[in-house]
Amino acid sequence: MSVKVKGVVARAKGAPVTLETIVVPDPGPGEARVRVQACGVCHTDLHYREGAINDQFPFLLGHEAAGVVESVGPDVQEVSPGDYVILNWRAVCGECRACRRGRPQYCFNTHNAKQKMTLEDGTELTPALGIGAFAELTLVAAGQCTKVDPQAPPEVAGLLGCGVMAGLGAAINTGNVSRGDSVAVIGCGGVGDAAIAGARLAGARKIIAVDIDDRKLAKAKEFGATDVINSRAIDPVEAIQALTEGNGADVVIEAIGRPETYEQAFYARDLAGTVVLVGVPDPSMRIDLPLLDFFGRGGALKSSWYGDCLPSRDFPMLIDLYLQGRLPLQDFVSEKIGIGDVEAAFDKMHKGEVLRSVVMVSG
Ligand SMILES: NC(=O)c1ccc[n+]([C@@H]2O[C@H](COP(=O)([O-])OP(=O)(O)OC[C@H]3O[C@@H](n4cnc5c(N)ncnc54)[C@H](O)[C@@H]3O)[C@@H](O)[C@H]2O)c1
Ligand SMILES: [Zn+2]
Ligand SMILES: [Zn+2]
Repeated sequence: MSVKVKGVVARAKGAPVTLETIVVPDPGPGEARVRVQACGVCHTDLHYREGAINDQFPFLLGHEAAGVVESVGPDVQEVSPGDYVILNWRAVCGECRACRRGRPQYCFNTHNAKQKMTLEDGTELTPALGIGAFAELTLVAAGQCTKVDPQAPPEVAGLLGCGVMAGLGAAINTGNVSRGDSVAVIGCGGVGDAAIAGARLAGARKIIAVDIDDRKLAKAKEFGATDVINSRAIDPVEAIQALTEGNGADVVIEAIGRPETYEQAFYARDLAGTVVLVGVPDPSMRIDLPLLDFFGRGGALKSSWYGDCLPSRDFPMLIDLYLQGRLPLQDFVSEKIGIGDVEAAFDKMHKGEVLRSVVMVSG
């Protein structure tokens, strides 16, 4: 039997989100229905509402969530009703050319639920990142459910479902930050701060945080920044070089998605160093740099989708580190809000007042 619940829907480009009754079908083959407990508000939800991702309105927003499996389709083996899970947007197929080469973190054909959730009048919803978790129940592919230790509270666990995983993984997986490295992170929102936390976890000796907002820099220190630079006041490339004996950092992570900050990252790394782009640019952006500098400086220029994570490998491990007090996931939660407060949370995000607002959907 399909079920009717409340969900946060973006009906039209730029229009404020509304709380609607949505219809969630019974899980079919390969699917699971999940009772969402908590779901963080990510910048990407706002991108959807603004029509910056695609125009498949109406969207069911929310994609950074933890909850409990309510029911599963007939053939589902990997999860059962009652399992405590984080929802992921990388349910790997096991069959594409990336999966077959043993690199499932790059899977080109990830799974989502086949059936559609709808509005009461039958209009099909597009769930954000194939999840749609600002809702009491949501329908996903069973592979999108990653079981983790239920001792981690949902407002904390859910964060690994998107932005915090993207930042941690940008440092640990994509940037391959290792013990003794110097690291600079440009942009210290939730994603950048997670990159800082990841660099600390990996044993970086110097972690330089760059932002234009002193409140963000103070917070970055709490996550492990050893030095901070306000790039409104001083040139960040020169400052990073000065903090690294004139050389630049081994790994520089750009967590904003803008050409000018990418250029700073490019020139702030040491010779043969690595730049990781985890911030998401918009389609209008271009970059113009001397090709000789790409060649002459050597090293690696990488981009990081979802922190190159493999949910089944990374989520349970990171939750364990959190439970042992080695990864302060709780510090990303700026506020807990109700399901009717998403629009206000977008506003706070825009003003730089929060790292993460987390919607508490059900107990
Ligand atoms: N690659 C992925 O898989 C992935 C996943 C989630 C989010 N993201 C992207 O990561 C980026 C950051 O997300 P977030 O949630 O941390 O956003 P956010 O808005 O919370 O943080 C951005 C930070 O950058 C700072 N900033 C803005 N302009 C700056 C400048 N010119 N110089 C220095 N600092 C500047 C802001 O003060 C803010 O602290 C976004 O583009 C988001 O879409 C990527
Ligand atoms: Zn695949
Ligand atoms: Zn996200």
